[in-house]
Amino acid sequence: MDRAVETILEELEKREETERKVRRQLSFDEEQVRQDEFLLSLGRSSAQLIHTIAVGAKPKTILEIGTSYGYSTLWLADAARAVGGKLITLEIHPTKQQHARATVAKAGLADYVDFRLGDALTTIAALSGPIDFVLLDLWKDLYIPCFDLFYPKLSPGAFVVADNMIFPEEQRQRAALYRAHVRTKKLVDSVLLPVGGGLELSRFVPDVAQPGIR
Ligand SMILES: C[S@@+](CC[C@H](N)C(=O)[O-])C[C@H]1O[C@@H](n2cnc3c(N)ncnc32)[C@H](O)[C@@H]1O
Repeated sequence: MDRAVETILEELEKREETERKVRRQLSFDEEQVRQDEFLLSLGRSSAQLIHTIAVGAKPKTILEIGTSYGYSTLWLADAARAVGGKLITLEIHPTKQQHARATVAKAGLADYVDFRLGDALTTIAALSGPIDFVLLDLWKDLYIPCFDLFYPKLSPGAFVVADNMIFPEEQRQRAALYRAHVRTKKLVDSVLLPVGGGLELSRFVPDVAQPGIR
């Protein structure tokens, strides 16, 4: 990780820590109403693990679903630069995307990122693929619909990482539904990793005898 990227990651981590104190003072409902104000990143340990896996897997196309203010985008863009790939990142909120764009440019990673604004479901449906690596980190009710849209576009051996499988606790039921859904796919190997908010790490491994079957 070069110094320019590391400096910006540290700035974002400080911002999140400050905002965490504000969020602690809010009720659940108040926090829900104001959620777009806050930087809600997947955190350093998850980001480091995802970066390590992505660099090792050498994906040509990385898809990030949920850019937010660009914390995980920086890690994935850095991985894309390291392996000569590109990152497509999806966000519905224009102000967040604008902020993420500026952050990525400041880190010197703009050439590796294709920012797409709009509903992820519409954007994924329009993507041509193949997709080699996915980070799924938007609102949790959309994990399964997103998965179903990108699954047919995954390349053999593609990785899918989904955040917030264990924390926050209020999302556990939705996370469990996602994990059960992934396990209905016979050609997907999947494991829950107790890192950060809990990561489901899945890999699409097609049957060599029947390469067209999913
Ligand atoms: C938890 S945040 C992503 C955090 C980010 N991955 C990080 O670690 O810094 C989830 C993001 O998904 C975005 N989002 C929610 N619903 C969406 C949708 N339908 N399409 C695209 N983005 C969406 C939210 O605006 C929010 O910024």
